[in-house]
Amino acid sequence: MQNDRVFRYSGAQRSIHWLLALSFFALAITGLFLVFRPAAELAAGGLSRQVHRIFAAVLLAIPVLYAVLDWQGLKRLVRDSFTYDRDDLRWLARLPRYFLGLAHDLPPQGRLNAGQKLHHALVIIGYVTISVSGLLMWLGKSLVGPGAFVAALWVHNITTYALLILTVGHIYFVFVYGALSGMLSGYVSRRYAELEHPGWLAELDRTAVGR
Ligand code: HEM
Repeated sequence: MQNDRVFRYSGAQRSIHWLLALSFFALAITGLFLVFRPAAELAAGGLSRQVHRIFAAVLLAIPVLYAVLDWQGLKRLVRDSFTYDRDDLRWLARLPRYFLGLAHDLPPQGRLNAGQKLHHALVIIGYVTISVSGLLMWLGKSLVGPGAFVAALWVHNITTYALLILTVGHIYFVFVYGALSGMLSGYVSRRYAELEHPGWLAELDRTAVGR
């Protein structure tokens, strides 16, 4: 840990995050080409379908890659995303303040604030539903009836729109609170950590003193 900067994300975590973001946007764009009629001409010849499937394979490999490169990090991400304490619930009740950029005077937060926990948890759930429904349409066509196929299509489309809305919110908060450096260099400013994650910062300082 340095004086004015705090280490937050390792190289492996950052690479996985950007691979996730790249494959998500590539899948969203090629997916919209598949369902949006005016763009159908661009999808002619099946190019967008092929690109969609290549990035679907990349997306499916991401948890495996995360587990291989940083098993503890993946476990912590899943555990933290689905664990909420009383302060998290109080924090969520005051989400409108946070939305307006007013993070001071909110209940203290640890490594992830409650909004990030909720975002990551919904991304994990969306990841599972979009992958299962996608695989069903891709490989299970001959195994399931037309009813199940249409249901998978609906689940796939609704999850896509939900993830797109979540991503707009995610990027909005990253820029409002100046969190981008964490996913670029791995470091965030001490000011950002004090404002957003005081519990986490105190824990890091305690560990550093104890060493
Ligand atoms: C240009 C687009 C994006 C930017 C600028 C961005 C930026 C960031 C930043 C700065 C963080 C770290 C926040 C912190 O804890 O301090 C983060 C974390 C995260 N983002 Fe994004 N993100 C983008 C797209 C996405 C997309 C498309 C998804 C998923 C659909 C996503 C999912 C996540 C997840 C799951 C984490 C937690 C990562 C971990 O703990 O390993 N992000 N993002």
